[in-house]
Amino acid sequence: MAREFASIGVVGLGTMGAGIVEVFARNGIEVVAVEVTPEALERGRAHLTGSTDRAMARGKLSQEDRDALVGRVEFAVGLDALHGVDLVIEAVPERLDLKQKIFAELDRVCKRDAILATNTSSLSVTEISVATTRPDQVLGMHFFNPAPIMKLVEIIKTVVTAPDVVDDVEALCTRLGKVDVTINDRAGFIANALLFGYLNHAVTMYEARYATREDLDAAMKLGCGLPMGPLALMDLIGLDTAYEILDTMYRRGGRDRRHAPAPLLKQMVTAGLLGRKSGRGFYTYEKPGSPAMVTDGLTPEPVEAAAATSTIRKVGVVGSGTMATGIIEVFARSGYEVTSVTRGAERSAALCESVKTSLNKAFVRGKITEEERDLALSRITWSATLDHLADTDLVVEAVVEELSVKKALFASLDEICKPGTVLATTTSSLPVIECAVATNRPGDVIGLHFFNPAPIMNLVEVVHSIRTAPDTVSTARALVESLGKHAVVCADRAGFVVNALLFPYLNDAVRMVEVSYANADDIDYAMKLGCGYPMGPFELLDVVGLDVSLAIQRQLYLEMREPGFAPAPLLEQLVTAGYLGRKVGRGFRDYRD
Ligand SMILES: NC(=O)c1ccc[n+]([C@@H]2O[C@H](COP(=O)([O-])OP(=O)(O)OC[C@H]3O[C@@H](n4cnc5c(N)ncnc54)[C@H](O)[C@@H]3O)[C@@H](O)[C@H]2O)c1
Repeated sequence: MAREFASIGVVGLGTMGAGIVEVFARNGIEVVAVEVTPEALERGRAHLTGSTDRAMARGKLSQEDRDALVGRVEFAVGLDALHGVDLVIEAVPERLDLKQKIFAELDRVCKRDAILATNTSSLSVTEISVATTRPDQVLGMHFFNPAPIMKLVEIIKTVVTAPDVVDDVEALCTRLGKVDVTINDRAGFIANALLFGYLNHAVTMYEARYATREDLDAAMKLGCGLPMGPLALMDLIGLDTAYEILDTMYRRGGRDRRHAPAPLLKQMVTAGLLGRKSGRGFYTYEKPGSPAMVTDGLTPEPVEAAAATSTIRKVGVVGSGTMATGIIEVFARSGYEVTSVTRGAERSAALCESVKTSLNKAFVRGKITEEERDLALSRITWSATLDHLADTDLVVEAVVEELSVKKALFASLDEICKPGTVLATTTSSLPVIECAVATNRPGDVIGLHFFNPAPIMNLVEVVHSIRTAPDTVSTARALVESLGKHAVVCADRAGFVVNALLFPYLNDAVRMVEVSYANADDIDYAMKLGCGYPMGPFELLDVVGLDVSLAIQRQLYLEMREPGFAPAPLLEQLVTAGYLGRKVGRGFRDYRD
């Protein structure tokens, strides 16, 4: 029989604590919520009121239930109020000395059989537990932000945590409607160990002015389907908390440079820019604690799509693969005259069929009318001769991902196309500057990195080399907007924004399996339920293809020479063994019947 928890204490009512109070009170459990000062207590109470008000406004909570929920919470200053509770969850700032002091005090105040849990994200639960005389009754209960919404709880057991304590807390999580994963005490546990390297990398990119905050966030939302971009997520987590977590992970987790907090973080924390809780972080909010973003001095002007349509009317697309097929369709559907060039009449005929099939699918699914489908088709000219691109305003190259082939093609385009034609490459991994210097017009050469499938994915990375002219960038940006897609502008560096941020995280997940810290299922669960990712890393790796993922990771490693980017040996082994993912029926998982 699992233990009954009639009343629960929560220490610290900040970003996490207030949410945790709500989780318990919503599930009919009496809560004693404590803070360090009356002012902080009032802030915590306001947090709970604000959150339950919003739930009521959204129709998720009735007035009656809300009153009952709030009625279950007793607010108090100081730990003495916790003498009668069965379990305490501590959610004070991420500092070991503070947490140890609080646990020693809790040990003195609480009932002998009370369980003491910490919500730490990165500190050693073991080190916290030894500040008490009952380390066997201490564990980690790591909730995710926002606690009332995110389904995951990581339960961290130390070498001394008693098994029945773990069982009881697992049963409690089930009662709360949460999904738990139980793991050992290691810096960052599952989710943060995979998340924070990525978040810190995004801050570094922002700090280096590689892309704007809006573009970094849009890239990860639109390119990977994440619920929030990395900088908006940092604001939600709290920059002070994020700094402490990174700092601890760096020191505890083998001094991986990727966890050394970006210098900008420290500056922002020192300046009091803590994120949502202080009303300003990477973005500006209506008021402290508000989720509503407001415009500020860094908010960009909206892009004028009309600017592109006035300069670009005729578009050439070179290539006959998946990307070329999608890109031809996208331009034709948006009203551009398209000249498709392949390496032969047979290829052109097959390509024409693929585009027809795809347009038909869009028609059948009700995305376009019959007339729009026919009009789009009528705008495309099929050719096997590059000379037909002479009078185009833009050429998009989507041929094989081999530098020598692309360079030769750009040299030919340079000879054939009229002056002023924008020459674009869809490369996902080669340097745009290499294509640019194969021409005598490097200022007109740019990267337009479409995502697959191009008609569906709304993101295009607009990649400028160090020679790309500013006019070319603004034309390309406006052009992308005219396609109904979102342009993210970034510099010419391996992986651009999305792949550079995504693949090291996937590689880290492989390493986590390799060292047997957690299995693929638990890791996939953790990222989906703790961070709201649409797919776990192993699901995604199997869809993308392990060979493709390995190639991208190698490219990132070769260009950045970042030791943490070295491809995980397990990934290399799976590729060598031919386990390439869904496309062959087996990758990290087996898809054969
Ligand atoms: N922010 C996140 O997204 C997130 C997610 C999961 C876990 N965590 C972890 O949760 C813990 C709390 O983080 P947070 O982001 O909520 O921090 P926070 O700064 O928002 O809140 C901490 C609260 O603790 C209070 N406090 C400080 N000393 C106290 C004491 N002696 N007694 C009682 N209360 C005290 C503060 O007044 C403050 O309200 C940290 O360990 C953090 O790593 C944070």
